[in-house]
Amino acid sequence: MSQVVKGVIARAKGAPVELVDIVVPDPGPGEAVVKVEACGVCHTDLHYREGGINDDFPFLLGHEAAGTVEAVGEGVTEVAPGDFVILNWRAVCGNCRACHKGKPWYCFATHNATQKMTLADGDEMAGAELSPALGIGAFIEKTLVAAGQCTKVDREASAAAVGLLGCGVMAGFGAAVNTGGVGLGDSIAVIGCGGVGNAAIQGAKVVGATTIIAVDVDDRKLEGAKAFGATHTINSRTEDPVERIRELTGGNGADVVVEAVGRPETYEQAFFARDLAGTVVLVGVPTPDMQVTLPMIEIFGRGGALKSSWYGDCLPNRDFPMLVDLYQQGRFDLDAFVTEKIGIGDVEAAFAKMHGGDVLRSVVVLDS
Ligand SMILES: NC(=O)c1ccc[n+]([C@@H]2O[C@H](COP(=O)([O-])OP(=O)(O)OC[C@H]3O[C@@H](n4cnc5c(N)ncnc54)[C@H](O)[C@@H]3O)[C@@H](O)[C@H]2O)c1
Ligand SMILES: [Zn+2]
Ligand SMILES: [Zn+2]
Repeated sequence: MSQVVKGVIARAKGAPVELVDIVVPDPGPGEAVVKVEACGVCHTDLHYREGGINDDFPFLLGHEAAGTVEAVGEGVTEVAPGDFVILNWRAVCGNCRACHKGKPWYCFATHNATQKMTLADGDEMAGAELSPALGIGAFIEKTLVAAGQCTKVDREASAAAVGLLGCGVMAGFGAAVNTGGVGLGDSIAVIGCGGVGNAAIQGAKVVGATTIIAVDVDDRKLEGAKAFGATHTINSRTEDPVERIRELTGGNGADVVVEAVGRPETYEQAFFARDLAGTVVLVGVPTPDMQVTLPMIEIFGRGGALKSSWYGDCLPNRDFPMLVDLYQQGRFDLDAFVTEKIGIGDVEAAFAKMHGGDVLRSVVVLDS
């Protein structure tokens, strides 16, 4: 028996999101239905709505979520009804060329639910299959995912806080710690202090980086970055960030620079603000039209590594419980990312606040 629940869709490019009735099938083999308790509003949801990811409308938005497993399909052993889980978009396959090489965080064939959620009778597009954002779709009372997309964590943790590990916070933490390899005594600069950048800053603090430089164009964001652990801040509207980062690092540049905006000019800043043999990590997502031009002699002469970070090179089952532990021990603050809790009907308003730079994260909280 399928069930009909309320969820938030983007029906067409640029159109405001809508709260509609959605049919959720019972879980089939390898699938789980999860009762969503909280789901953060991520910049990527807005990219979907604007047609910036692909044209597979209608989308079921939302992907930074935590909730309780309601039912599982045949053959599912990793989770059971009643488990409190964070949803992830990296359920590794174990069989692709990345998995075979022992680098499953690059898995090229991650699992999603096989069955589709659809628009309910009475909708102008009744029966249409929904494309869930990042293979999740969690601005909805109950969602259907692959069981591997459910990572079990301690039920005592706040759903609104730990759900954020499902995307932006994990991406930022992992960009600094996993991809950038930042560690004890290192210097790091983070360009763009939204949810992702601040998670990189706090990650660097947790692993013992000594110089943590936050760069943004908005003083409110820089104030926030200090609270997450930035030792220095630079407003790149009024100061040259490359020069300032060099000054703050003994004239050398930072060991690791994380670009958490996704723009050519900030990528170029990151490139020139790192030390010789340092590492640039691009975690911000560019649009297809963007180009960078760099002197090839500098690419050679500076050595080091130019990396991109997909989802912070995380392994959800390894990293989510570890970060929940740090959160519960008071060593990694997740609550500070939650600017406001909103209802499932408020996603469109949350996009406007995100666009205006007013929030780190608005989090949709559903009745339990
Ligand atoms: N790689 C991944 O796996 C992954 C995962 C999640 C999000 N992202 C991407 O990370 C980026 C950041 O996401 P977010 O949720 O933190 O967004 P956000 O909108 O909350 O934050 C962006 C920040 O960048 C600042 N900024 C804008 N222009 C700037 C400039 N020229 N110089 C310095 N700072 C500038 C803004 O003031 C803001 O503080 C987005 O591109 C998002 O799509 C990537
Ligand atoms: Zn794989
Ligand atoms: Zn996201």
